[in-house]
Amino acid sequence: MSIYNKKLVKVLSLGAGNMAEALLFPMKGAFQEFHAFTPTGKRAKSLAQSMDGQSIDSLSMVPRDIDILFLAFKPQHYQDAVSDFLSASDWANWDKKPIIVSMLAGTPISVLEKSFGHKRVLRIMPNTPAKIGMGITLLLPGDDLGTEEISLLENLFEMAGPIYSCRDEDQFDALTAVTGSGPAYVFEFSRILESFLQEKGVEEKKARELAVSLLVGSSNLMQESSLPLEELRNNVTSKNGVTFAALESLKENDFGGSIKQALEKNIERSFELREVAYKMNS
Ligand SMILES: NC(=O)c1ccc[n+]([C@@H]2O[C@H](COP(=O)([O-])OP(=O)(O)OC[C@H]3O[C@@H](n4cnc5c(N)ncnc54)[C@H](OP(=O)(O)O)[C@@H]3O)[C@@H](O)[C@H]2O)c1
Repeated sequence: MSIYNKKLVKVLSLGAGNMAEALLFPMKGAFQEFHAFTPTGKRAKSLAQSMDGQSIDSLSMVPRDIDILFLAFKPQHYQDAVSDFLSASDWANWDKKPIIVSMLAGTPISVLEKSFGHKRVLRIMPNTPAKIGMGITLLLPGDDLGTEEISLLENLFEMAGPIYSCRDEDQFDALTAVTGSGPAYVFEFSRILESFLQEKGVEEKKARELAVSLLVGSSNLMQESSLPLEELRNNVTSKNGVTFAALESLKENDFGGSIKQALEKNIERSFELREVAYKMNS
């Protein structure tokens, strides 16, 4: 039997925070074994419990027959977490090295490959709606992952929502600007509407409810309709009507251009962080 029968996947997660919990829980049924380690132990215990797995108290006790090693800590802990893991687990003497799956923002594939000494690596970028089972996960496979391994990983992440496999790190960073950071833009847009409603006399709680319902209703309509988004917009917009006036104002203020500029800034910052990661780990 091979790991490509996904019921046989044995997994260790280094880190057991919000994102690990949100992303891994939907895959629970596909894991034969699940282990988690965190320095304080508390969150490893609670994640392991919800996954019907085990928490590990010391890195010297990690099982050496795992198929996937998840990196789920913060990028600023990368050097300490990885060097502690490599030395305490006696990584150099493992017979079979697991696939490395990293959810760390701004940590390029080449840094992961260098640290773990092989190229069976996958970078992923989840987003916060994963917490309610509605996330999007971007995937970027390293050079030495085989076709079967990639399809195993795609099948696993599809259990947590839509996925997109990127062709290279540039595309991964560009798409991260939309799907990874996207929830923040949506929250900001909603916040502006909420505050406008309050200015017009709606009490705080109701203003939030109305702003959120607007987003939820419009999103569900987009999802259920097969019409192009432009047509859905046009269906709300009579020539010279009130919506038309608002959209013309957005156009005059280059709404589209300003969104695109923000996305380009996001990508620029990704490049800068990538350079920092290369320097720190070279
Ligand atoms: N939140 C997002 O929107 C988002 C989106 C995409 C990607 N990500 C990525 O997801 C990762 C985790 O973020 P999060 O929001 O889940 O963080 P979080 O809730 O703060 O959890 C971080 C986890 O890492 C553990 N940890 C700290 N040092 C460690 C070490 N040396 N070895 C092993 N584990 C260690 C912590 O352990 P303790 O419990 O003991 O403190 C904690 O369980 C980050 O790399 C982030 O870039 C987050």
